[in-house]
Amino acid sequence: MHRFQVKGGQLWAEGVSVERLAKEHGTPLYVYSRGTLVDHYRRLDAALGEVGHMVCYAVKANSNLAVLGALAREGSGFDIVSGGELHRVLKAGGDPKRCTFAGVGKTREEIEFALRKGIYCFVAESEAEMDEIDRVARRFKRRAPVAVRVNPDIAAGGHEKITTGTYENKFGVAYEAVAGLYGRASRMRGIAIRGVQMHIGSQITAPGPFVAAIRKMAPLVRELKAAHGIGFFSLGGGVGIVYDPALASGLTDWWENRTTQLTIDDYARAVISETRDLGVQIQVEPGRLIVGNAGILLARVLYVKRTGVKRFVIVDAAMNDLIRPALYGSYHEIVPVRQLRSGASDPEWVPTDVVGPVCESGDVFCRDRLMPDLRAGDLVAVLSAGAYGFSMASNYNSRPRPAEIMVDGRRARVVRRRESRADLIRGEAR
Ligand code: LLP
Repeated sequence: MHRFQVKGGQLWAEGVSVERLAKEHGTPLYVYSRGTLVDHYRRLDAALGEVGHMVCYAVKANSNLAVLGALAREGSGFDIVSGGELHRVLKAGGDPKRCTFAGVGKTREEIEFALRKGIYCFVAESEAEMDEIDRVARRFKRRAPVAVRVNPDIAAGGHEKITTGTYENKFGVAYEAVAGLYGRASRMRGIAIRGVQMHIGSQITAPGPFVAAIRKMAPLVRELKAAHGIGFFSLGGGVGIVYDPALASGLTDWWENRTTQLTIDDYARAVISETRDLGVQIQVEPGRLIVGNAGILLARVLYVKRTGVKRFVIVDAAMNDLIRPALYGSYHEIVPVRQLRSGASDPEWVPTDVVGPVCESGDVFCRDRLMPDLRAGDLVAVLSAGAYGFSMASNYNSRPRPAEIMVDGRRARVVRRRESRADLIRGEAR
């Protein structure tokens, strides 16, 4: 469920007109709905309620301080993958004692920083990294809390670039090698074994892969609990959302409210029934599920151009602002913010490529998609852009990154100002 709705023929974010936001703050513009992301967090937390659990929001999905702050106030934990993400969580008022630190290449400096801040647990992704964490902790005369990320060798995830849980991927420690690594770690003076972790991929839209991976992990979890007293099993993130609603037949259908294909309740039910008997705390690391449908990217049509075979709608947002379509071929719904001239009952559908101004043929938000007759000046919204949108944005083509707005009821707040030309060259020298 999300709180972007069509009212009176135009799009609203909670109680705020999206058109008004575009007028006030310009485009391209990211707009988030606080109510939506908090609702997703609460529903997941409640659905897991009956088992001991911790929800660690995956900061990489959207690391704006306002997003982190809203979740911190809900009591969320955080899944971080860099010292920079830990810095953000701390600045947003998050609790380091609820942070887990994953990633295959933590630097010594990052390990020291996280240790000093007293994070909940490191997630070691290799034997060599375990050695490094041990060395750093001993130098601090501390024991670093550690879990090992296990690669269960299960294929999942909608796209090769976001599948993580097979031996073709760089992540985690091979299932067969895990018990040996725990044995070694248990003898390290700088290491305190706390738990075990897995993450099989992202944008997974059925419970099957999670169930298969948990079943594969269960004997290992039992063994590690008996041998090393582990206290938690983190299932990682990966719950998918709906990007492409069952295809719309008219303008009024476009904004029919949607839920995830894999609902929060279905996911929680599967997870609970598979882990109930393990006797350890369950952790989950959702990113996309929490923020994906809580954000949109607004863009204005600059030009319409027809070639012999195509109609291009050139908008002022580009792949530097939202790279998912260019990088993964991802589908994002694109809708006009105001119902258009042709009217809901008789839209003039035209096959359209919506493209940005960046000098790359790949700078395309959609190809040959049937869309109404957009004209210069029209405002469009790229939907489901809350996750891996701004957090993957760059300054490519020397384009300042967009502003970000957080809507809460009838209030809208700039939570990151638009970058200026001065920002573009900050820190550079001639
Ligand atoms: N935990 C770990 C260890 C992860 O690596 C990830 C995501 C998550 C949790 C959160 O996964 P989520 O619940 O959001 O699926 N940029 C890509 C997605 C990359 C995901 C990377 N890891 C995209 O735009 O689709």
